[in-house]
Amino acid sequence: MEVKKADSTGIKSMYADVIEGLSKSRKELPSKYFYDERGSELFEEICNLEEYYITRTELEIMKENISDISEILGKKLMFIEYGSGSSEKIKIILDQVKGINVYVPIDISCRHLAKSAAQIASEYNHLEVIPVCADYSKPFEIPEPKSEIKHRIVYFPGSTIGNFHPQDARVFLEKIVKVAGENGGLLIGVDLKKNKTILDKAYNDARGVTAEFNLNQLMHINRELGSNFNLDKFKHKAFYNEEKGRVEMHLESLDDQRVKLNGKVFDFSRGERIWTESSYKYSLKEFEQLAQSAGFRVRKVWTDEKELFSVQYLECFL
Ligand SMILES: C[S@@+](CC[C@H](N)C(=O)[O-])C[C@H]1O[C@@H](n2cnc3c(N)ncnc32)[C@H](O)[C@@H]1O
Repeated sequence: MEVKKADSTGIKSMYADVIEGLSKSRKELPSKYFYDERGSELFEEICNLEEYYITRTELEIMKENISDISEILGKKLMFIEYGSGSSEKIKIILDQVKGINVYVPIDISCRHLAKSAAQIASEYNHLEVIPVCADYSKPFEIPEPKSEIKHRIVYFPGSTIGNFHPQDARVFLEKIVKVAGENGGLLIGVDLKKNKTILDKAYNDARGVTAEFNLNQLMHINRELGSNFNLDKFKHKAFYNEEKGRVEMHLESLDDQRVKLNGKVFDFSRGERIWTESSYKYSLKEFEQLAQSAGFRVRKVWTDEKELFSVQYLECFL
């Protein structure tokens, strides 16, 4: 299956992002570089971990409320999924919501996307599937479908919105308002604020899969950009920062060390960290305010009994 590829997924962009991040006084790397093929596989493993309540809870909410969700969505739909990964969650929707004519999965992990999109196309024969490999934080074209479309629905599950700092989340949601357009909407998974113990466990699983996922980013950068990060000299560190309402994931240097990248050198002191990901958690009120500030109206919110997670349908007011 042909995958449309945006320029922003190339080595040049990655090089610029990595140099910029490592040159900051507080070093950081964008979380999108977790996702090479191995990173996508590791993320799938994370989704099945006992400690990682997120995927399990979101799936439960979707399954329990799918008739309600289906009624709200309408017919002649184009579903545009940002960060589609293994395209597992969309299957619950495709099985129940009969009005979907077009599915556009968008992901930065091109090979993984090609496999997942081909699988969806083979399982749902009636569906026009147009995979787009793009970095959704940069400009890219949404393809024009052949099928007739009345509404565009953007699907953004997994609480990936939490990976944006709140001010960037607002800018991103403003872009989504434009993509969905008049009569369009956003079906989004949003992780909720909760007890620190549950969160600390979720990002520090006993088997160390999340640690491997975090370190895999350095392997990805070594392979693509020819740097010489020594994976044995960094350790995974993740914790819930209650004051900021976010889980922070870092890689901590175990020694004083120097890393080379295309003629540039980056020095790390023992204990110094690279900030690799934030996962903001919201209260329902906080997320409603964020959505409204971007041009969305919250139409409906579904949660689990313990209010660990929410699935929300937002309508654009243009
Ligand atoms: C947290 S995972 C969620 C996967 C899936 N949507 C789910 O709910 O289980 C984030 C997904 O978004 C993709 N991704 C992360 N940053 C991206 C970016 N800037 N542009 C495109 N895809 C991105 C990753 O490759 C990955 O598949």
